[in-house]
Amino acid sequence: MAKTTATAPGKIILFGEHAVVYGRPAIAVPLAQVRATAEIDDSAKKGIRLYAPDLGRDYWLREANEKDPFAQAVRVVARAADLKRMPDLTVTVRSSIPIASGLGSGAAMAAAVIRAMAKHLEFSELATDGQVSDLTYQVETLLHGTPSGIDNTVVAYEKPVFFIREQPRNKIETFSVFQPLRFLVADTGVVSTTKKVVGDVRRRWQENPEQFERIFDNCGRIAMAARVEIEDGNVSEIGRLMVENQFYLKEMTVSSLELEQLIGVAMSAGAMGAKLSGAGRGGNMIALVDAMQEEEVKNALLSAGVNHVLTSVLA
Ligand code: MEV
Repeated sequence: MAKTTATAPGKIILFGEHAVVYGRPAIAVPLAQVRATAEIDDSAKKGIRLYAPDLGRDYWLREANEKDPFAQAVRVVARAADLKRMPDLTVTVRSSIPIASGLGSGAAMAAAVIRAMAKHLEFSELATDGQVSDLTYQVETLLHGTPSGIDNTVVAYEKPVFFIREQPRNKIETFSVFQPLRFLVADTGVVSTTKKVVGDVRRRWQENPEQFERIFDNCGRIAMAARVEIEDGNVSEIGRLMVENQFYLKEMTVSSLELEQLIGVAMSAGAMGAKLSGAGRGGNMIALVDAMQEEEVKNALLSAGVNHVLTSVLA
């Protein structure tokens, strides 16, 4: 019996979260140390069994509702492949990406399932990075209403991206990195659902359009400047831009006490810049460090109660 596997990484947003939903540029990079893995096995039992042991879930596709992201990841492939009859399969998904922590766990799980399904059904045209990204976007719209498209893009292409949400097609650019940049990724331990935070920012934007447009403009300006500094290798300026981006994220009301505390700890221990990453109100913060400060900042974060600190190198 045939078996097919595929994986997708987590992600961190370096600059421009939230503002990216409103057409401003943002920068995101894959986080390869944490991944979602999907496995598809042919089955002798009728139907498609969905098995997510980490989430304690084991059920049949036919029983899953339209809002179930795991089931929708399977359905979008079946629809795109125009399958007349569903095959008999077990689809297993496992993930080491913490859920609801800003690291793209939902997008990565969907991307892994979509790529594994497309490969297993031998629809290679649906297994390309572009198609996996587009199909993951369809699932993401269920998870949080108005996704910008940056999460599905970075987990499907598994490359750093400079991203602008645009019609009819998003602008997706890669960029060069003059010198490797080291980011520490630390979890506040506070879960936060992207859908809720994105929805809340939208309400506030509707109530105060002028204030929020100004904040988004500033975040966009910062992301553009950050790209230039990354390409030029101006590390201290990149750190300063992270601090500035965090100022506007706070004004957007998406920071939290826990995030501010960890950002303060990282900066006091010598980080060059620090900010929240992803939707905020919990989840992860990132800190830019050089090789000399890395250990000290990491230890300071661990002493402040963070369970794990990951290092992501952008090279
Ligand atoms: C979530 O990872 C990033 C947000 O900007 C939402 C989005 O871009 O869809 C908060």
